Formats: sequence, C-alpha cells, structure tokens
Amino acid sequence: MSKSLQATAISSPNIAFVKYWGKRDSALNLPTRNSLSMTLGAPLETKTTVTFDPKLGADTLLMNGKAVEGDGLARACRVLDAVRKEAKLALHASISSSNSFPTGTGIASSASGFAALASAAWAAAGLKWDEKKVSAIARIGSGSASRSIAGGFVIWEKGKKPDGWDSFASSFAPPSHWPELRDLVVVLDDAHKKVGSNAGMQDSVKTSKLYPPYVKEGDRRVEKIKGLILSKNLPSLLEEIMAESDALHAVMADTTPPLYYMNENSKKVAAFVRQYNARVGKTVVGYTFDAGPNAHLITTADRVEELKKEVSKLVPVKAFFVSAPGPGVKVL
Ligand code: PMV
Repeated sequence: MSKSLQATAISSPNIAFVKYWGKRDSALNLPTRNSLSMTLGAPLETKTTVTFDPKLGADTLLMNGKAVEGDGLARACRVLDAVRKEAKLALHASISSSNSFPTGTGIASSASGFAALASAAWAAAGLKWDEKKVSAIARIGSGSASRSIAGGFVIWEKGKKPDGWDSFASSFAPPSHWPELRDLVVVLDDAHKKVGSNAGMQDSVKTSKLYPPYVKEGDRRVEKIKGLILSKNLPSLLEEIMAESDALHAVMADTTPPLYYMNENSKKVAAFVRQYNARVGKTVVGYTFDAGPNAHLITTADRVEELKKEVSKLVPVKAFFVSAPGPGVKVL
C-alpha cells in the first residue's frame, strides 16, 4: 500500500430543538419524523482517527485509551461496513477516539462520536467528501450523529427510501447567522442512563397513545422553528423549544413501562426558567431535555453568567458547559 489509509476528524454533539424519538427502521436508524438541531462546538469535541490496515484481522476500537467491545464496537463496525461498501475496500480498521470533555459527565457523546467516526473513515478510505452520504452513514451509528456532520442550524430529513440514502441532515443557516446564541449545559447527574434512547424510543412507538400526534406535530414544528431561527425571533423560538421538550417528556411518561429521564432537580431547573422569564418580562431563556436529566438552557451569551449563578443556588450542579453554534465536522 503506497498511500496511507488513515484520517482524523473532529466533531461536536448537537442539541435538538425538535427531537428524534422513534424509528421506522431500527437497523438503519431511519426516523419517524424530521428533526432540527444546533450543532455545538468547543469545548465539546470528539477527535477520532481511523486507519485501514491490511495487518489487522478484525476492527478494533479504543475510546479514551480503553478497548471497547460488545455493542459499542458492533455499532462502529456497521459504520465502517457502510464506508467499505462505498469505497469497495476489504480492509479492517483500527479506530482511536477521545473526547475533549470528560466522559461520564452526562454529555451524550454518541452524536459527536459517530459523526467523527463516519467522517474519518470516509476520508481514510480515500473517498471524495460528500456531506449527505457521510451524514447518512453517521446515522447508522447513532441517529442524532447524522446532524453533527453539518454546522450551525441543521435539519435531518426523515426520508422515504428503504435504503436510507435520503435520510440525512443538512444546514439551513451557518453558525455566523446567530453567533451569540448559547447552549448552557447544566450537568445534574453523570450516571449512565438506565434505559438507553434506542430501547426507550421504540417502546414509545409501540405503546404511547400520545406518540402518533407527537410525530404528526414534528414536521410542522420543524418548519415553524426554522422560520423563527431565520427571523431570529428569540422569545417565540424559546417557547417552541420548551413546548417540544415538554411534549417529548409527556410521550416518555405515557410509554409502557414509563420512561422518566428528568429527575427532581431537572424539574426545578425547568420551573426556574419559567420564573426567570416572568421576572425579566420576556422569554430570554428556554430549556430542553433529551433522554437524560441534564438541562440544556438555550439563551444568549449575555445571560450565561447570571443563569449559572442562579442555577447553582437552586440545585447541586456537577458541571456547566457553554457552547455557541459550532462549525460541524472537520477532517484534519
Ligand atoms: O441517536 P440517539 O440514540 O443519540 O438518539 C437521541 C435522541 C434524543 O437525544 C433524545 C433526541 C435527539 O434528537 O437528539
């Protein structure tokens, strides 16, 4: 082999304003609804190097220096398989990945992890950059990873095709569109979630009577939020983000067995956000919660320090992370 089949990519998580919750195809992570997110950036980054190597007898995965096997490795192999198929490549790969943020802090690293993996593998295999295809391949590792490929404000289209090639994410506004917007991540609990999003969302699809209207509302809400981002209408955007988060957690609670990802402190933070806005006299901060207890407070840069102080007085906070809209994946 003359050319080195190695590449490195850096990627960040994203925070969904309209969530992905439920699949129409579990093997390919094809969603039931469109979703919309803001891609985050430093200090929340994953750096991943992929090396295709004829000396390897199997794919290997190192995360923060530790070998990963089982489900984590199997998911990574599915992403590598999709890249190998595109590149007509028959070599195994070694993957080495590390997070700039401490793992076990309750920050979901699957979106940034699979986005970095798909991008590094794509480049290592010598393929010409194709954002849509890389997004669709990242999606095979973790649905939300499809959105971390693109920068700024992003929509993941659910698509229609059974093979999933039309289910990818793309940006509708760059980070420079709204550079003062912030996600203030309030880490309340760093324990691993008991019911992972993969199992939880399919239970909701099967059992929640609130699920069909939630899905139906999704595409309308994506269009509405897209318009509110493009017109930079902060109060209405934040109200809509909170309404979506509340609707998701209502579906979760209505699932059999019920899914309670928010804890008592999450609820305190949500109530505080409503009170803070009432005090200010307009909606200047909004909350959104994923499949975990940690709060994402969407606000503008000028509010961050005051919010940190007030939230710290209210509940025990393990860590804060602050991110502006980020650039999407970078292949080094
Ligand atoms: O693809 P996953 O397993 O990371 O699913 C993520 C689901 C939520 O975070 C709850 C919502 C979302 O759209 O990010």
